[in-house]
Amino acid sequence: MRIVFAADHGGVHLKEYLINFVKEDYDCKDFGTYTEESVDYPDMALLVSEAVAGGEFDLGVLCCGTGIGVSVSANKVPGVRAALCHDVFSARMAREHNNANIITMGQRVIGPGLAGEVLKSFLNARFSGGRHARRVNKIQGIEKRYCNPR
Ligand code: RB5
Repeated sequence: MRIVFAADHGGVHLKEYLINFVKEDYDCKDFGTYTEESVDYPDMALLVSEAVAGGEFDLGVLCCGTGIGVSVSANKVPGVRAALCHDVFSARMAREHNNANIITMGQRVIGPGLAGEVLKSFLNARFSGGRHARRVNKIQGIEKRYCNPR
C-alpha cells in the first residue's frame, strides 16, 4: 500500500513521527514540509489530495495544528474523502463506512502515541461496501453537481 504524507509547520513533528511509525510496513512518501518555517496548510493539503485523487497513492495522511485546515482543504478536491480523526474508532469507521482516502490529525490536539494507534486503525480497516457504497456514491453525486473544473 502506497501512502503519501504532508504537513504544515504546525503538524511537521507529528507527520515525522507517523512516517517513522509505519514506514517498515508501508511504502511511504513524504511531501514535506520538513521544518517549522511557516507554510500554508492548503498548499500542503493540495499536494497530497491531487496525488491520492489521481491514483498515484492509495491513501494520504495530512497533519496541521488542529487537523482541521488540511481536512477542509483536502475535501475541496474531487475524489478526496478526508476524515479528521483523533480516536481509534472514528479512524476505523472512516474507512469502513465513508471509504475515506485521507486521514487528518492535529499535532496540537493529539499526542504521538495515540496518533500512531489512530493511524494503524485507519490503515488496517477496509471499506465495507453495501449500503455504505450507495452513500459514498451520493457524495460523488454532490461533487458532480457542484465541482466544475475549468
Ligand atoms: C497554523 O498556525 C495553523 O493554523 C494550522 O496548522 C492549522 O491548525 C489550521 O487548521
